[in-house]
Amino acid sequence: MIILSVESTCDETAIALVKDGREVLTDQIFSSADLQAVYGGVVPELASRSHVEVIYQLTDRALAVAGIQRSDIDAVAVSFAPGLIGAVLVGVNFAKSVASALGVPLIPVHHIRGHMAANYLAYPQLTPPFVCLAISGGNSMIVDVRGYTDMEIIGATRDDAAGECFDKTARVLGLGYPGGKPVDQLSQGGDDTKYALPVSQVADHPYDMSFSGLKTAVINIVHHAEQTGEELDKASLCASFARAVSDSLVPRAIAAVKEKGYSKLVAAGGVAANSRIRADLERAAAENGIELFVPPLRLCGDNGAMVGAQAYYEYLAGNTAGSDLNAYANMELSEVCAKG
Ligand code: KG4
Repeated sequence: MIILSVESTCDETAIALVKDGREVLTDQIFSSADLQAVYGGVVPELASRSHVEVIYQLTDRALAVAGIQRSDIDAVAVSFAPGLIGAVLVGVNFAKSVASALGVPLIPVHHIRGHMAANYLAYPQLTPPFVCLAISGGNSMIVDVRGYTDMEIIGATRDDAAGECFDKTARVLGLGYPGGKPVDQLSQGGDDTKYALPVSQVADHPYDMSFSGLKTAVINIVHHAEQTGEELDKASLCASFARAVSDSLVPRAIAAVKEKGYSKLVAAGGVAANSRIRADLERAAAENGIELFVPPLRLCGDNGAMVGAQAYYEYLAGNTAGSDLNAYANMELSEVCAKG
């Protein structure tokens, strides 16, 4: 089954062709991040306009690169939630039009389910059940993935997402947008014990997280240094920050796998590209006899292939939509069937 998949929830427009949920025929991605960088973050209206400008050409290019005719497409899938509503709407309307014109099923895919499914592309042997640590620009959660379309959030951030915190740290240090990669790179040469940063606990909710205190602590350190003229060791601040984020995420994810009695831990989302988090996950998984699956860097950020991978399993579960499909800024992972 060949699925044309559409991703437009933030500042990446992506069109992919995926066969049977596991084989990527092509994955075309255009990012408007350079345009957004001028403003220090994503301007939703600019992202939406950029999607409109490139989505048709990306689709033509995907078909040409994969050598696929329109008549070969068996279904069209789209990331329909969560995301910037104007941006998501572009992809949803485009996907609806293409599905209608081709007379093929339309498959709505939850964006975070897509991030998780990126691992099905990288690891053909991976099957549920597993615990997934899903960490992106807008979400940080620990998910009990019982089946391909049967999942439940068992822990989540109470405030900022981990990626948002990386981006704010980068901004206050003048490292540009998006901030995760430059903070990661600068942290390589730093001393991760130099700055004492908080790792929050949420009382009675062992898997919930909080990153706003950590963000504020970083901002206070930078402002204090500016006001007192003290020289800031940016590399060590980045290293201490990455360590604090990792210390919030990794032990919780490991504990969740053990509590559920599973043998597999899966990481997903843009922040899963972070070198400190990847190294800590590897070490902790090995120490606890857990099999770890972390996507290759190219599949951590937003892409269309991950949407096509999850779409295959949504289709098998009967989760298709009609032309009344809407876009949603927010949606729980387990709500998908109800609204799709
Ligand atoms: O998954 P993603 O591409 O988009 C969303 O669905 O949100 O994640 C983007 C986030 C941004 O906050 C970006 O700064 C962060 O992932 N990120 C990283 C790294 N690369 C990207 N964060 C930490 N370390 C990285 N190497």
